[in-house]
Amino acid sequence: MAFLFLNFLVFLSMFLLCFVRCEPTPLLPPFNISQPDLLKYFGLNNFGNILPAMYVFGDSYIDAGNNNYLKTIAKANYLPYGIDFAGGQPTGRLTNGRTAADFIAQLAGLPFPPPMLGMSAAEKENTLTGVNYGSGSSGIQALPPTVAPIFGHVLRFEEQINLFKETTNSMRSRFASLESLALYMSKSLFFIHIGSMLSNDLGVYWEIGQRDAFFSNATEYALGLSKNLSRGLEEIYELGARKFLVNNVPPMGCWPANVNSHKPNTSCVEDINQRVSYYNGVLPNMLKNLEASLKGSTFVVCDLYRLFGDVFSQPAAYGFWNVSGFCCPDSAGNGTRECAKGGVPCMDRETILFFDPVHPTERFHFHWVRSFLLEDSLCSPYNLLELIQL
Ligand SMILES: *[C@@H]1O[C@H](CO)[C@@H](O)[C@H](O)[C@H]1NC(C)=O
Ligand SMILES: *[C@@H]1O[C@H](CO)[C@@H](O)[C@H](O)[C@H]1NC(C)=O
Ligand SMILES: *[C@@H]1O[C@H](CO)[C@@H](O)[C@H](O)[C@H]1NC(C)=O
Ligand SMILES: *[C@@H]1O[C@H](CO)[C@@H](O)[C@H](O)[C@H]1NC(C)=O
Ligand SMILES: *[C@@H]1O[C@H](CO)[C@@H](O)[C@H](O)[C@H]1NC(C)=O
Ligand SMILES: *[C@@H]1O[C@H](CO)[C@@H](O)[C@H](O)[C@H]1NC(C)=O
Repeated sequence: MAFLFLNFLVFLSMFLLCFVRCEPTPLLPPFNISQPDLLKYFGLNNFGNILPAMYVFGDSYIDAGNNNYLKTIAKANYLPYGIDFAGGQPTGRLTNGRTAADFIAQLAGLPFPPPMLGMSAAEKENTLTGVNYGSGSSGIQALPPTVAPIFGHVLRFEEQINLFKETTNSMRSRFASLESLALYMSKSLFFIHIGSMLSNDLGVYWEIGQRDAFFSNATEYALGLSKNLSRGLEEIYELGARKFLVNNVPPMGCWPANVNSHKPNTSCVEDINQRVSYYNGVLPNMLKNLEASLKGSTFVVCDLYRLFGDVFSQPAAYGFWNVSGFCCPDSAGNGTRECAKGGVPCMDRETILFFDPVHPTERFHFHWVRSFLLEDSLCSPYNLLELIQL
């Protein structure tokens, strides 16, 4: 009852806000919504079913369950993760419901791209609508391997690319010619959430890594990562990809986990955000150079950093009431770790920004896709809708 009342209040406040800034983010679309009904939540009349497939690379922001099949401690296969997914099913997603990748798929009338490691041989051959290679706690992992075992085996970027290569080999027999496979690949969307993946590189792998032996400072490190990312994207291109959406790195210094462990005297940990900003500063040029050298490619870079920043500075304008807390009790009890198994999450999951101390709620994932899809100032040189329609 209290929950319904809260929903009503949120609705009311958005209605009122509309007089001020007539661009309120609507409430979350229901899980089982049909594609035509979903389009209304994005302010669209039709989408045209023009996207044949979506391939997803990245880390825990978009992992849909690959880590469930790996020897790693970085798993989210228990409640309260997934409490709003299909009526309460933990899948490995590190949020309460759908991720940004799921929303794009649903919008395009595609199934949620399944985690590669959960697919049978027949599924690998027959799934022509896209695959998810994301893996929580992964990164480019350019620092020595001594750093990786803290989480066990997660799919570093290179392994994700190798899995995509396997996908293209499995699918080949389903296409009449190499030309038809190439056409299909060129129309497909490659959603690279390497941005947050790099947050592991710029975060934990930087903080505990033996970086001094390899890079003289954070600037050098960011340039090294950028070269490495560039090479990885080129490999994906060689396998047929043409349309890339690359998210930049979010302001990790504002994640509750970082605030709670560094206890800064400001609202965010500024030196972490500076490290991220430096990296985000070199990313657009790197992608421009790549686009110029790879014929027929389009690289769209989207500003996830600013998307978070806007929500932090004007929460109510985007329908968020709580941007400093997080929703599930964490396993360490000091606001620095993943959700405790079976912990009872907060009720106001449609108005809180973070689900656990690192990962945003489904509501933010929805806001993320809606903003990148339609707004011209967050993505460059195209918004997501224009990229899909190219
Ligand atoms: C979604 O639809 C399926 C199949 O109709 C049904 O089994 C499931 O309970 C529904 N889930 C939710 C959350 O409504
Ligand atoms: C980082 O190291 C490079 C190469 O040694 C140097 O040119 C640069 O000035 C350094 N940057 C900072 C911020 O210390
Ligand atoms: C990234 O760097 C690592 C470590 O130097 C290297 O092993 C890997 O092959 C590189 N990956 C790409 C895609 O260049
Ligand atoms: C939080 O708790 C964990 C587990 O007990 C501990 O390792 C960590 O140091 C604590 N962090 C802070 C900032 O208190
Ligand atoms: C806040 O913390 C920073 C970094 O630790 C320090 O340089 C600064 O002097 C502090 N400011 C205040 C007002 O305490
Ligand atoms: C945000 O939500 C958390 C979890 O429910 C709660 O503990 C915290 O007090 C809330 N903060 C604000 C400012 O409402």
